[in-house]
Amino acid sequence: MRQHALAHNDLSPLNRHPMSRISLVVCLLGLLFAPQRLLARDYQAVSPDGQLQLDFKLEDGMPTYSLTRNGATLVNTSRLGVTLADAPALDGNFRVVASRCTCYDDTWTQPWGERKKVRNNYCQLWLKLRQQDNLAREMIVVFRVFNDGIGFRYEWPQQRNLKNLVISDELTEFNLAEDSAAWWIPAYEPERYEYLYDETKVSEMGTAHTPVTFVREDGVCLSVHEAALVNFASMTLEQTDGAKLKANLVPWADGTKVKAATPFHSPWRTIQVGANPGELVTSYMILNLNEPNKLEDTSWIKPGKFAGVWWEMHLNKSTWGSGPQHGANTENVKRYIDFAAENGFAGVLAEGWNEGWDGDWTANGDKFSFTKPYADFELNELARYAKEKGVALVGHNETAGSIINYEDQLADAFKLYESLGINTLKTGYVKLEKLIKRVDQKDGETMEYHHGQHMVRHYQKVVDEAAKRHIMLDVHEPIKPTGLQRTYPNLMTGEGARGQEYNAWSADGGNPPDHTTILPFTRLLAGPMDFTPGIFDLEYPEFRPTNRVNSTLAKELALYVVIYSPLQMVPDLPENYAAHSDAFEFVRDVPCDWDETRVLHGKIGDYVTIVRKERDGQDWYLGSITDEEPRTLEARLTFLKPNQKYLATIYRDADDADWKTEPSKYVIEQREVDAQTVMPLNLAAGGGQAIRFSPISPAEEIKTARKPAER
Ligand code: NOJ
Repeated sequence: MRQHALAHNDLSPLNRHPMSRISLVVCLLGLLFAPQRLLARDYQAVSPDGQLQLDFKLEDGMPTYSLTRNGATLVNTSRLGVTLADAPALDGNFRVVASRCTCYDDTWTQPWGERKKVRNNYCQLWLKLRQQDNLAREMIVVFRVFNDGIGFRYEWPQQRNLKNLVISDELTEFNLAEDSAAWWIPAYEPERYEYLYDETKVSEMGTAHTPVTFVREDGVCLSVHEAALVNFASMTLEQTDGAKLKANLVPWADGTKVKAATPFHSPWRTIQVGANPGELVTSYMILNLNEPNKLEDTSWIKPGKFAGVWWEMHLNKSTWGSGPQHGANTENVKRYIDFAAENGFAGVLAEGWNEGWDGDWTANGDKFSFTKPYADFELNELARYAKEKGVALVGHNETAGSIINYEDQLADAFKLYESLGINTLKTGYVKLEKLIKRVDQKDGETMEYHHGQHMVRHYQKVVDEAAKRHIMLDVHEPIKPTGLQRTYPNLMTGEGARGQEYNAWSADGGNPPDHTTILPFTRLLAGPMDFTPGIFDLEYPEFRPTNRVNSTLAKELALYVVIYSPLQMVPDLPENYAAHSDAFEFVRDVPCDWDETRVLHGKIGDYVTIVRKERDGQDWYLGSITDEEPRTLEARLTFLKPNQKYLATIYRDADDADWKTEPSKYVIEQREVDAQTVMPLNLAAGGGQAIRFSPISPAEEIKTARKPAER
């Protein structure tokens, strides 16, 4: 860990689970024994396992909630409500006019993911509030209490005195009971989510993007985020008083936050709760709070790995723009297609394929064409060649934030891609200022925040258009993920944090070794990330003498397991993989779609070990990484099938490896293990370890196993 500066609907209740019934009873009793129930003072909902309890109260007509876990308060009384631009606030003078408790228990299957079967089990408290004045406006608050946290949202039904809704502020508070350690990145900054995480006390936080992760004194971890962010402004968190945080919605140019017409509802505000950091990682509450899949046919959606003309531009070896160094030329792209075909990778990305990159592309997004290739990129020929080789071209649309230009071309571009067999698209919104141009008849030309309601709508438009054309998306400079991939499974992955590319060019020395030990417990709680692990040539003095990857080669392998993405890039230059073909075998083997995920070790900012079982297969994969400290962790292999021997193929740091001095030294060895085995994981400073476990039949002999090979 670095030293951190201390700054800155109606449900169909399926009460299959006995605990769900208990919570339903608790919930109903709470309603029954509350005196003068409809004048309402205290309403409760309890998680199916009985550990979490949500309390709703009207305090002099003002809606509030609080949260406890096994009797210990996690969130003190916190306000709920919104203020409106042209109408009195919906924040007080309420009475509860109807309430319902229901429990739900179902298991659904993800077309792809960290886990195939997801259990959706919660108790819901639904409350209809009505203001006690002439307008008698109504607002519904819905709470869902899961074993792994709570979600709640506001609903504004259609009504005579509330037709159009302009929200000027959301008053939701998260009044944490303790001034815990908080892991956060700043909001309203020009690089969007691309900042190193800070660890401070809650009381020392600046306004932050969600998810923000909190570690309490008793070890319990919380993560505050939102689920199903659709047609609303992104929620950031603002520290207001001690450990009290308040929703801070990203505004429109006119200062209002959300424009809507009833019926309307907010995204879910979420508080995930785990006994330790690992339990946050294996919480699927954010997905559960999203609507089920809306795409009729998902057979075309396939997780996979892709190579591409990408890292070479970040290294400055070639250029996005036209000229003698142009990377996306037919010959070079064919070289990558051959590389992908030889190694069984699904796709090849070619950035800089289209007109518009010349000059300062970050400032000239209006010049991008999304259909016209540069002359030396023979689009039709490359699509044909890729198809012949069993590989798909991965499209690239860098918009530089010029979304007017992009939306004008969207339909034609996606139609073209579909006709060429381009089934995956990476999009980008690099913009070195905070604001994005919007033009409309009413307001003329205005500048909008990247994360406001206007842009949330734009990103959704791209998802919808892509689904129509059977295109999977990898969104760079995205809106933070909020679990929408459940509803739109073509929204595969995205960036939304500092990725590997910072190691190529950033002036601050790139991502420090602890960065990837923080991401699984922060950004990755929101959804998959296209981090682009797997750089083998960790130092590149001929291209970028002052930059390097602050990692060991074994750690780069481990990141394929630690950082989940259904589309994983194999980003380095083919020749750099050829130089380490034995280690490359892990990159070829590792899947990006899983049946199950478990966290064996996790300390935010220090280390993490994750194991995952391949989708519809028998093999398990382990990734373990550390910060700048070397350490030995013990992995208990109890996740393996009992009474089954496995061959463990281990890719570890060599004994003298060190991210600073000997980053490329690794050892590959094999041993026989089973569920009883306790394996030491020796991690070098800044290092890691990757392991593949494959079942072996009793007849197979371990003597076939490789001897350690030291590099
Ligand atoms: C930033 C993206 O994160 C990166 O992957 C891409 O290469 C550049 N933008 C250019 O689009």
